[in-house]
Amino acid sequence: MFNSECLGVNDQNHLTMGGMDTVKLAEKYGTPLYLMDEDMIRNTCRIYKNSIDEFYNGNGLVLFASKAFSCKYIYKVVREEGLGADVVSGGELYTALSAGFPADKIYFHGNNKTYEEIEMAIDAGVGRLVVDNAYELDLIDEICTKKGKTADILFRIKPGIDAHTHDFVKTGQIDSKFGVALENGEAEEIIRLAMQKKTIQIVGVHCHIGSQIFDLAPFELAAEVMMNFIADMKDRYGLELKELNLGGGYGIMYTEQDDPVEYHEYIKAVSKVISQVAGKRGIEIPFVLMEPGRSIVGSAGITLYTVGAVKEIKGIKKYVFVDGGMADNPRYIMYESKYDALLANRVNDEKDDVVTIAGKCCESGDVLIKDARLPKAQAGDVLAVLATGAYNYSMASNYNRLAKPPVVMVSGGEDKLVVRRETYEDLIRNDL
Ligand code: LLP
Repeated sequence: MFNSECLGVNDQNHLTMGGMDTVKLAEKYGTPLYLMDEDMIRNTCRIYKNSIDEFYNGNGLVLFASKAFSCKYIYKVVREEGLGADVVSGGELYTALSAGFPADKIYFHGNNKTYEEIEMAIDAGVGRLVVDNAYELDLIDEICTKKGKTADILFRIKPGIDAHTHDFVKTGQIDSKFGVALENGEAEEIIRLAMQKKTIQIVGVHCHIGSQIFDLAPFELAAEVMMNFIADMKDRYGLELKELNLGGGYGIMYTEQDDPVEYHEYIKAVSKVISQVAGKRGIEIPFVLMEPGRSIVGSAGITLYTVGAVKEIKGIKKYVFVDGGMADNPRYIMYESKYDALLANRVNDEKDDVVTIAGKCCESGDVLIKDARLPKAQAGDVLAVLATGAYNYSMASNYNRLAKPPVVMVSGGEDKLVVRRETYEDLIRNDL
């Protein structure tokens, strides 16, 4: 009935998360409200971590791709579970460091890191810079020379793999803005450049082939291509690339149409490919990293809204309006992403209505779900949109000067506010 193991229904016909009544939480914190199940997040971290132990003898590290959900508290949770973190901006880095995240377990990504961001990362002692292009390589060299330091880097490589997902989140193929391509020699070229720089330690290579992927095959293929590249670099230059970072991208269940593979199955399949190529090419198995984001937090989150007006356009459609929308979840307007929703205060009532759930922004496309099957909704109902834990809070905006909702975590029957609701005062804080 639910697309996430953290959800249930209680004897008042209310939706529960981690056993807690979500309607009561909506009353306590107000709506819109992001709710997340911390215990589920921790369990998923453990599945990943155990898989590294089982399939790579512990010779690897899971990095939480914090673009999926970044706030101080999540860095504390994933750190306690033994994960590292992937950050993509000075802002994410600052948040992680403010939460006490160990800098050496941070991998800094991004296709256009600024001078200031690189300097900040080097001063903080981040574990690795994942270098996207030759301009960045020069900046790192310049900054390290000035500071008398060296930088440990990986290169972001485009392995040329089409991961059959939404075009906007496909990043492995040659015309992607990320990284350097293998097939036209760019990757080898940048490695040759880096080998001449005294400030640069080339530790490994990275790829990320896309997001919300359900097939094993593109991951296996990416691992094979990357391992062969590692072997080629050893053969041609005697270069030992000790780390292989295979990015994230594991799909989650948003609606019943989605059929994700168990995460340890991906890791098992990929580990087989890695050891096969290592054996065939006579190279060591590298230290393996992966960067799941969505799959760690996505299914552990829901958003609660209060229903306001219900507008029926006779013979055309019925709109159910909620007190949030594209400002707290821009994924429908950006990608036409599909979600499931239910009435949290009347979970098992008959779903005899088909409606479009729309937000309150001045934008016709401000829709959360088209053709949602719900009980007849009325003002005051609490609507839950499911699987909103990834790329919702992190992509939220203040469009129309809507204040961002708070984030509440539930764990062991307790609720904890981890990001407070923005106030009108917050909205004008930077206005002069
Ligand atoms: N590593 C790198 C280098 C990435 O670029 C990404 C995602 C990840 C890891 C994490 O991927 P995940 O496991 O979460 O699929 N805003 C889009 C998703 C963009 C993902 C960009 N990169 C969305 O809402 O679907």
